[in-house]
Amino acid sequence: MSVLDIVNIGDPFLRIPARDLREEDIPTPIIQGFIDDLIETMRHARGAGLAATQVRSPHRICAIEVADNPRYPYKPPIPLTILINPTIEALTEERFDNYEGCLSVPNLRGVVPRAVGIRLRALDRAGAPIDREVWGLSAGTYQHECDHLDGTLFVDRVIDTKSLCTWSTFEQYHRSAFVDRVEALTSRFGS
Ligand code: NI
Repeated sequence: MSVLDIVNIGDPFLRIPARDLREEDIPTPIIQGFIDDLIETMRHARGAGLAATQVRSPHRICAIEVADNPRYPYKPPIPLTILINPTIEALTEERFDNYEGCLSVPNLRGVVPRAVGIRLRALDRAGAPIDREVWGLSAGTYQHECDHLDGTLFVDRVIDTKSLCTWSTFEQYHRSAFVDRVEALTSRFGS
């Protein structure tokens, strides 16, 4: 396994929509090895998720994991999840304001409206289908990662650019109000 280079905003590769993977390619050593590298790179960078486009891979694959993450201590846990060819459908018109950051957008955070509930369909790394609903803050994490596979970054979805801040000004001025909103959300949905 190896830690891959994560590219930053401005790299054209981040803007190229990823391609669906053929099911017969999922078990190959190349793809399984890539998935191992994606997980190792995500954990090394302490990300809550990492998409293939962020490491210049053209495949529609992303990894998500939240476990005591120091970047996002208020996030409810999400066990390690690999999504291949994921699609997301909003289950409600209701949106919540998510303060997002991204490993490919160093030291910037901003508020992005996200659906509070989604239906997620994908394949896992064994090629088995995933079809589930995700609600609450965790739904925002899935939407952020799947956006990457369409060449979309969170900054594209920031409506109020006055919400943009660094990680340190987030801590200083925005964290407290956001954590209050997160607690209201997680107490409603448990995730
Ligand atoms: Ni990101």
